[in-house]
Amino acid sequence: MKSTLSFSRGLQKFPLIGALFAQIISLIFIKIFIQAFHYNLPIIEFAFIQAAGSAVITQTIFKLPKWFLYISILFPIFLIMGFHYFHISSWIYGFIFLFLALTFSHTLKERVPLYLTNKKTHDALKKILAENKAKTFVDLGSGLGGVVRAMSETKVTSVGVETAPLLWSISSLASFITFKGNILRQNIWNTKLDEYDVVYAFLSPAIMNKLYLKVKSEMKTGNLFVSNSFEVEGVEPSEIWQLDDDRQTMLYFYRI
Ligand SMILES: C[S@@+](CC[C@H](N)C(=O)[O-])C[C@H]1O[C@@H](n2cnc3c(N)ncnc32)[C@H](O)[C@@H]1O
Repeated sequence: MKSTLSFSRGLQKFPLIGALFAQIISLIFIKIFIQAFHYNLPIIEFAFIQAAGSAVITQTIFKLPKWFLYISILFPIFLIMGFHYFHISSWIYGFIFLFLALTFSHTLKERVPLYLTNKKTHDALKKILAENKAKTFVDLGSGLGGVVRAMSETKVTSVGVETAPLLWSISSLASFITFKGNILRQNIWNTKLDEYDVVYAFLSPAIMNKLYLKVKSEMKTGNLFVSNSFEVEGVEPSEIWQLDDDRQTMLYFYRI
């Protein structure tokens, strides 16, 4: 019982491992089925059954976050079809792996996927900066740097910190070329927050409590922490905005 509990906690911490296990388990079941019934499974059926099996396992048994549903469906279909129909050479797989590793390095470690702040949220953030007469702004985990560049249009000193190598390279180049903002190759946890009037994060529920402890201990009294979509558990936000964009973005404000 205890070991089952710690296994499931481990999977919650490292969901990609869970997703991998789900693929393996699904594959084993399919193999047993084929051997037992001597069934000649066409490749397309195989790809779809593998996808369905692993998707069910990630959601019902391992209870991984929703977006693993899409990953577990798309991954086997693309991989199997790619190998079977397109004779993709192995260096392309190597390239894709490298691309994913350089882009999603935080997904495995901190369960922070890459999704980007939209234009309506940029506008709301600009309004927040103006209302607070902010002079300095930081986006913790700045992705492709869109928020940083948009905020720099308001004349605040706009900074982003990002450690995923490819994202940092693209966004710092974009900032350099457009003269908008500045992206540091820096980990959130090593970023001093006392110099920023407004700190923005669009990360993951998994790290909100740890992040809030950092925010509370480093930001100056009266300054503002804004979290896109994810609340800090057990802490009442000073204000909440719901935007009228497609995803009904929620912005949670914490006045320090
Ligand atoms: C959900 S995306 C948000 C991107 C951007 N802030 C936006 O809203 O458009 C989160 C980003 O945080 C980055 N990230 C996650 N953990 C990080 C860490 N410890 N240090 C630096 N960046 C991190 C990820 O690489 C990813 O680009």
